[in-house]
Amino acid sequence: MREIVLETKGLRKVYNADSLNAVEALHNVNIQVRKGDFLGVMGPSGSGKSTFINMISTIDYPTDGNVYINGKNVRMMSANEIGHFRYENLGFIFQDFNLLDTHTMFENIAMPMTLAKETPEKIEEKVTAIAETLNIGRLLNKLPGECSGGQRQRAAIARALVNDPAIIVADEPTGNLDSENSEDLMDLFRKLNTENGVTIVMVTHDSFVASYTSRLIFIKDGDISTEIERGNTDQDDYFSRIVSISSSRRKRRHHA
Ligand SMILES: Nc1ncnc2c1ncn2[C@@H]1O[C@H](COP(=O)(O)OP(=O)(O)OP(=O)(O)O)[C@@H](O)[C@H]1O
Ligand SMILES: [Mg+2]
Repeated sequence: MREIVLETKGLRKVYNADSLNAVEALHNVNIQVRKGDFLGVMGPSGSGKSTFINMISTIDYPTDGNVYINGKNVRMMSANEIGHFRYENLGFIFQDFNLLDTHTMFENIAMPMTLAKETPEKIEEKVTAIAETLNIGRLLNKLPGECSGGQRQRAAIARALVNDPAIIVADEPTGNLDSENSEDLMDLFRKLNTENGVTIVMVTHDSFVASYTSRLIFIKDGDISTEIERGNTDQDDYFSRIVSISSSRRKRRHHA
């Protein structure tokens, strides 16, 4: 069995815990992610997907339960250790991109390499190459505000990939992309996953995008409600299974 790189035990998150507006976003989530997994996360809006992603990428802390990274409890790690872990191992793609508006697309993409104190030559080379791959090579001197939503999303993706992370954590990475760019991105993710052994955890609401994963969890009201694996089935069969799970949930809600 491949080693476990990310694990959660009894993960619970309550926002605004001590006020009248308390929201239990995650109830009790237990998951193991192994090296080389391509895990998808689906579920209705507000079901806790981004909350889950923020917990496993150490951006926010759980109210109860624990997150383990390479077997180590995040609660036991110093802020310094967590920081190092983040920029050495993780590539994040946020739902709202989180690009810096006053920095050019180049500077935004280069950010993780700048933090890791890479040389200007190496930064130039890597940023240019990844931007070309994502078809934003011509936009590197522009500010994010001068680019389209899809272009900004691709810059956020380039920034996540520029440091060759071992784990990619992506929240709706295709949310602002058309079907052609979505497919290109999923081909890239698949290549990173199968050829370079990169572990990927990806939230998506799109069944076709989800059909690129090897495993899929469905989150409902803060719990994992269903879990499926692609196994040896081909992508079309896997896609049909995903569609039928997603649509049966919609129907149930419709009749409720
Ligand atoms: N910072 C916050 N403060 C208070 N409540 C929050 C916060 N972030 C999320 N929530 C609430 O927690 C619940 C889960 O939110 P979350 O963002 O994890 O959902 P999601 O599954 O990612 O939804 P979507 O598909 O719309 O992105 C929602 O009820 C949301 O309103
Ligand atoms: Mg979300």
